[in-house]
Amino acid sequence: MSEIYMAGPSITELEERIVLDAVRNGWYGKQAYHYVETFEAEFAKYHDRRHALMTPNCTTALHLLLAGLGIGEGDEVIVPDCTWVGSTACVTYQRATTVFADIDPIHWCLTPASIAKAITPRTKAVIVVDLFGNMPDWDGIKKLCDERGILMIEDAAEALGSIYRGTRAGKFGVGSTFSFHRTKTITTGEGGMLLLDNEELFQRCKFLRDHGRQPGTYFNTEITFKYMPFNVQAALGYAQFQRIDELVGKKRWIWKGFRERLADIPDILLNPEPEGVTNGVWATALVFGPSHGMTRDIALVEIPKLGLPARPFFYPLSSLPAYPGREPEGRKNNPIAYHTSEHGINLPCALNLTEHDLDAVSKGLHTLLGR
Ligand SMILES: Cc1ncc(COP(=O)(O)O)c(C=O)c1O
Repeated sequence: MSEIYMAGPSITELEERIVLDAVRNGWYGKQAYHYVETFEAEFAKYHDRRHALMTPNCTTALHLLLAGLGIGEGDEVIVPDCTWVGSTACVTYQRATTVFADIDPIHWCLTPASIAKAITPRTKAVIVVDLFGNMPDWDGIKKLCDERGILMIEDAAEALGSIYRGTRAGKFGVGSTFSFHRTKTITTGEGGMLLLDNEELFQRCKFLRDHGRQPGTYFNTEITFKYMPFNVQAALGYAQFQRIDELVGKKRWIWKGFRERLADIPDILLNPEPEGVTNGVWATALVFGPSHGMTRDIALVEIPKLGLPARPFFYPLSSLPAYPGREPEGRKNNPIAYHTSEHGINLPCALNLTEHDLDAVSKGLHTLLGR
């Protein structure tokens, strides 16, 4: 049996050809940013956004957005307690205060109620994460943010291809970000994208992305960031993006394959797809219900013994040493985040998974649960 990988891309001759073109020809004059600009334009159009800025990764895209919005010291930003730290590091970069809120027990994203509970007079923004491709109650969150004057930011790093009531992930909020990390649905190795509609905010973020210089000049008016993309990296993203339906289709095939193969096991949760939602399912997560007496930590010891890979569900950020002293408050305020994390694992989501791999992982999970 060949090795089963947790995550990884699908690369074809199309990508090879386009990247080779960028390496050969993408250096002089207009060609130097040809693939960056083409990828940005097509990505923005696909998501019904006016503007896109490619960045070195999603973490920097979020940082650029927070900086562009002028979020800084004294401001509070609400984030979900369960997500990858790349969603939230930007708040600390800007010396603002990170406020962890609880997640929903079914879709594992923030809810209007959990956000409302975390709001204070200093709340400036909320970063809503489409975790694993799952969609939160965007209508309810938007209503709350509008009523309370809070900036709504979408971290869609994991949600390429997801749709909520006819609107694609990447269209919600003042700005939305994507990741093209090696493990994501489309990849540039490292890479990210910031999507915006507001012209002024776009110009500000563009300025912040390239050393605070006036476009086309060598005249810097502020010390800012160097978060510029590279044409060859963008060429890979552009090529991958031509295959978006196929790649999202494969992700959904993996998720459906697990759903079918695990359907006989009661009391487990996998990524949901409620009415009105299409889930892009970057990765399938599995949460063990109480009847199994199974925890994340036991599963992570036992699954490798079966020769299979597994990863933990995201740890509550408030429990990590990266956020010292935040655990007591996190445990008290965000019990669903703690409970879900302690009983959740991620299943393999590599784009090279086969039927045989899905069979093997599902058989392993049956063995793990004594079924
Ligand atoms: C939800 C979420 N946000 C942000 C990031 C950060 O993305 P990147 O690694 O491109 O900085 C990731 C990715 O790994 C992620 O899964």
